[in-house]
Amino acid sequence: MLKKFLVPRGTSDILPDEIFRWQEVESEVRNLLRVYGYKEIRTPIFEETDLFVRSMGQTSDVVQKQMLTLQSQKKSDADDIEIGGLSLRPEGTAPIVRSYIQNDLDKKESLSKLFYIGPMFRGERPQKGRLRQFHQIGVEAIGPGTSSPYLDAEVIALSVNILKVLDIKHYRLKINTLGALQDKENFSKFLRQKLKPNVSNLCEDCQKRFERNVFRILDCKNKTCKLVVDQLELGSDYLSEESRRYFAHVREALDSLNIEYEQSFKLVRGLDYYTHTVFEISDSSLGSQDALGAGGRYNNLVSDLGGPQVDSVGFALGMERILLAMPKETMVAKSAVNVYIIALDEISLKRAFQILNILRSHEISSDMTYRISSLKSQMRLADKVGARYVMILGENEIKKGVVTLKDMQTGTQREEKVDNLSKITQQLIEKQL
Ligand code: HAM
Repeated sequence: MLKKFLVPRGTSDILPDEIFRWQEVESEVRNLLRVYGYKEIRTPIFEETDLFVRSMGQTSDVVQKQMLTLQSQKKSDADDIEIGGLSLRPEGTAPIVRSYIQNDLDKKESLSKLFYIGPMFRGERPQKGRLRQFHQIGVEAIGPGTSSPYLDAEVIALSVNILKVLDIKHYRLKINTLGALQDKENFSKFLRQKLKPNVSNLCEDCQKRFERNVFRILDCKNKTCKLVVDQLELGSDYLSEESRRYFAHVREALDSLNIEYEQSFKLVRGLDYYTHTVFEISDSSLGSQDALGAGGRYNNLVSDLGGPQVDSVGFALGMERILLAMPKETMVAKSAVNVYIIALDEISLKRAFQILNILRSHEISSDMTYRISSLKSQMRLADKVGARYVMILGENEIKKGVVTLKDMQTGTQREEKVDNLSKITQQLIEKQL
């Protein structure tokens, strides 16, 4: 028995039946991003592993457990593929910042509003909504021009508005602030103090996190850790006056846009680069993997990676989770075929093949079976592809030099002269097929 190959665990094929939903989402999102002034950027799907270690942090879960690193392989002396030290990108922020620095985008504009839509890779244990290859719609606003709380609010509002245009209504937006670097440091000290009496009740992982990355404890899914975290009372005492004021401005700007949110002192995000505003959008109907998207400010990342001291803010939404959260009825497959040509004998088939070519040269989407079979079976195929019109060619039509044109919506049919085909195609175009 020949081995059957399957799609790798945690990845999936997007079949033609589903792709239209992806394309619809992408086109709605692209449109909205254009309205907000974002331009697309595409970076490679792998980068130096160190880029992710330095940006997301050595102690982040993604770097510790989920990096998919490529193995160096020496094919021959002449053909040495040097890929050691490279990893599939687990997220888009670090690659975009790398590209921003490498291409001196700060010299071209004071505010670079960039977006990306593409696959990301994390070696996670797969489950519903958690994949090893998934797709993100991401937005990064980078540059000296981003140091305004209005931009934090706008980026948050944009993420929410993307969900709104996609008819997703049952989401929760949580926001918090980590403050500037010094505030973050104070926050971690404060957290350690609060957690200290309960360290022995934490899971093994969290006991290590207590020293190395105490914020991660707030996100631990372990039951006893959750109990400990639930009992914590956290305020915002660790924040400087300036950071407090900045966050108040962000909230005011969000209020002015009528964006509803909850402030959660326990929202810290799992990646090291965040400072000030952080946010997360969840949808409880998705089960345990309920985060539709997340983001925040990362004012030191560009300079930490060797670039200029410029501020930044962004977010990423998970495409697969968006598709799970969207109402199923929102999108109906649009037919790709406007005219289906049916040929009933050899001579008709020859003519039909030419007509197909003419229609396509007029940019009318059209198709046929390329074989002769009964009218009934070809009509069934035309129906299956959702054809708007059917052109039938048989002995009778060839003799008269016509085609029978059937409107599949109204069921009416008429004969049209083959000589008139360019006129017919024109009419079809005018009917805005
Ligand atoms: P993140 O929270 O790691 O943030 O991922 C953002 C979103 O990607 C998640 O909320 C989720 O919807 C989706 N996602 C993440 N991992 C998976 C997975 N294994 N399977 C399916 N979906 C997944 C970031 O990636 C940051 N770069 C966001 C950001 C941009 N912050 C600032 N700018």
